[in-house]
Amino acid sequence: MNHETRVYDSILEMLPSEENPSPLVRINRLLPPELARANFRLFAKLEWLNPFGSVKDRAAASMIADLEARNELGPSRPGRGIVEPTSGNTGLSLAAICGVRGYPMRAVTPSKVPAEKRMLLKLFGADLDVTNDAMCPLPGAEDGTIGLARTHARASSDRYVMPNQYENQANVNAHIRTTGPEIWRQTDAKVTHVFTSLGTCGTVTGLARVLKARAAEVGRTVRIIAVQPSPGHDVPGIRNTSELDVSRLYDRTLIDEIIEVPFDTAYDRVLDLCRVEGLMAGPSSGLIFQGARTVLERDANAGTLPENGVGVMIFCDSILKYASSMLKHHPELAGE
Ligand SMILES: Cc1ncc(COP(=O)(O)O)c(C=O)c1O
Repeated sequence: MNHETRVYDSILEMLPSEENPSPLVRINRLLPPELARANFRLFAKLEWLNPFGSVKDRAAASMIADLEARNELGPSRPGRGIVEPTSGNTGLSLAAICGVRGYPMRAVTPSKVPAEKRMLLKLFGADLDVTNDAMCPLPGAEDGTIGLARTHARASSDRYVMPNQYENQANVNAHIRTTGPEIWRQTDAKVTHVFTSLGTCGTVTGLARVLKARAAEVGRTVRIIAVQPSPGHDVPGIRNTSELDVSRLYDRTLIDEIIEVPFDTAYDRVLDLCRVEGLMAGPSSGLIFQGARTVLERDANAGTLPENGVGVMIFCDSILKYASSMLKHHPELAGE
């Protein structure tokens, strides 16, 4: 493995780490003038450049490594694989890693997840159950996404183990080991704001723990800002706080501010990011960008923005998986 020449013996060696971080790319033409005047630098962390295309590569790799370390998967459990409720990205990362490691994979997915994501799960060899559930897996009925995955894990424990990204500490640990330290190093310990979304909350909880602790060690602070879509949203992978009961990894005490953004603006910001910054950001990234801009402009106008601040937005995945969602919000893109 050589991160300098980028020659690898396996795709799994490309998973992100402090030595091989996902890129931070600065926002230039879309930076509001108030922020430019305060010398505020805003960066996007491009998680779609991870090997299987999203931030969830981190959680998936960490959860599989944890199952292997506890002999729940691997040579002592021949033929056993994974079942997981997923709105797509975790399932895709798990399916790809399972393929490489030789484990079977079953994904249980809500029907409202874009067809592109369902196709990708099958393309990567996952067996697929589609439930008539909300956009993100919800708790409750046994035929709901989480219930059905649990039923598979219980009824066929020789064939499946369920990592359960919503409760699994290995999901948080992935961000304690990788995302947080990467940001600290990439910003030369100068990060002042992080903007992220709420799904399983592995990302926000893990990176907040690391960055708040490291900043405190050097007498600084980092503001952690979560951006949530307005209720009734159609942004896959993320949740409004009213939908967070299922996410046992959510720790409100680590989050300085939660800002709600009208969900359809996510798709407008995707257009801007593609056309003006060349960033093929997905809908949750568009939402985070809108939230970051709102918070930072407000603070700049109130005179509370630090001089020379550094903001990092976690851009979880790219627009390439969301053609159908994008066309729904911007039918003019059909080119007809
Ligand atoms: C597109 C997208 N954005 C954001 C998130 C949220 O990340 P987390 O589950 O770590 O809260 C997810 C999680 O699945 C996602 O798929």
